[in-house]
Amino acid sequence: MNATKIFLNEQDMPKQWYNLAADLPKPPLPPLGPDGNPVSPDMLAPVFPMNLIEQEVSTQRWIDIPEKVLELYNLWRPSPLYRAKRLEEYLGTPARIYYKNEGVSPAGSHKPNTAVAQAYYNKEFGIKRLTTETGAGQWGSALSFACALLGLECKVFMVRISFDQKPYRRLMMETWGGKCIPSPSSETNAGRKILEENPDTPGSLGIAISEAVEAAVTDPTGGTRYSLGSVLNHVMLHQTVIGLEAKKQLKLAGESKVDIVIGCAGGGSNFAGLSFPFVADKINGADIEIIPVEPSSCPTMTKAPFSYDFGDTAEMTPLLPMHSLGHKFVPPPIHAGGLRYHGMAPLVSHAIELGLLSPRAIHQLECYEAAMIWARTEGFISAPETSHAIAATIQEAKRAKEEGKEKVIILNWSGHGLMDLTGYEAYMNGKLFDYPLPEEEIKKSIATMAHLPKPSLA
Ligand SMILES: Cc1ncc(COP(=O)(O)O)c(C=O)c1O
Repeated sequence: MNATKIFLNEQDMPKQWYNLAADLPKPPLPPLGPDGNPVSPDMLAPVFPMNLIEQEVSTQRWIDIPEKVLELYNLWRPSPLYRAKRLEEYLGTPARIYYKNEGVSPAGSHKPNTAVAQAYYNKEFGIKRLTTETGAGQWGSALSFACALLGLECKVFMVRISFDQKPYRRLMMETWGGKCIPSPSSETNAGRKILEENPDTPGSLGIAISEAVEAAVTDPTGGTRYSLGSVLNHVMLHQTVIGLEAKKQLKLAGESKVDIVIGCAGGGSNFAGLSFPFVADKINGADIEIIPVEPSSCPTMTKAPFSYDFGDTAEMTPLLPMHSLGHKFVPPPIHAGGLRYHGMAPLVSHAIELGLLSPRAIHQLECYEAAMIWARTEGFISAPETSHAIAATIQEAKRAKEEGKEKVIILNWSGHGLMDLTGYEAYMNGKLFDYPLPEEEIKKSIATMAHLPKPSLA
């Protein structure tokens, strides 16, 4: 079969999500409370609904996707698998490159896969309103979209730098009925404190999370919960629909083996979504290289230790076992706003520690160069986050050429960049720079976690 697009029928969409926690050779470590003891599910109850907390701690391998979520997924799923024939030709590589196009969702990225599921579970639990943070705006728009479809209110704290760079994302959120405010804001104690200390801060995902959690837990009616677009186990779970579809589609394309799986990684969710079903194969002996890609200016997986750390700047969340640059870390203002998070999903971090993944960091300019090649071969304009996966794919396709090997590469094309054109403009005008992080700065930031417990997989 030599098709450009490989489709599945709606009835062939997976009916269950895959939970990697069931298959890890060492069990996942629990989140810890301020006293250093594991957090019990009921301690999380003011923040998340209990049905999602149950998923968060589940070690069941397969979890049924509710009928209503399947029905909403059908608005854009199954997403097509593409063969990147023109890119292959341009690179002159013997590799066969496939990509899962998650940009076809209404919000333009993979994020609605979990937004719809989370809005559904909150609604089922009787919740009326969700709060969240957003970096580039993809997650905020995905959750606003999901809340519109499920009849919930939605309030989004958007990282200030992205709020300024991406006004159309705010308008998308408002079109779906969401309320979007720049973070730090004067609406919360956490925001006011940070604004007092540093009124010109570009903001960070860590700060925005503090604000969104505070806004949820301080609602006196009890009808508000917080929703996170990445990092947590249940978010990784919901995204596995991507990899499960991809496996069926690769088979239809006549591929019996995959050599390399690639995804960009901010909090880890689109990467996990594509890769975890392949990580399961790797645990069972398959020879696959699985590469999460991050920006060199926020090198969580490649330079930061596996530590317990807070998920947010104001230390409101439990301590999570993750690769972290330190919860006070404010990354340079790269355009890939969704990759500017100080930590990495505990499940992704865990898999790195077990040697199942091969993380890689790439600088901004190489990523934009890759996104330009992609736009002029494959046609689609990529989100700046997604460009990291493309840059790594091009590196691997060139390596296959040097080695003369017919490798099969699959990447997750996590979203389109049609709302991110200011970054492209800056690149084309020569106004974009790399931000190498001085080792001293990394060391200083990591030192802020010195007093926190150290996770052990021994
Ligand atoms: C298009 C796109 N890709 C990737 C990411 C990174 O997030 P994650 O690592 O959770 O997939 C984001 C986050 O905003 C995004 O918008």
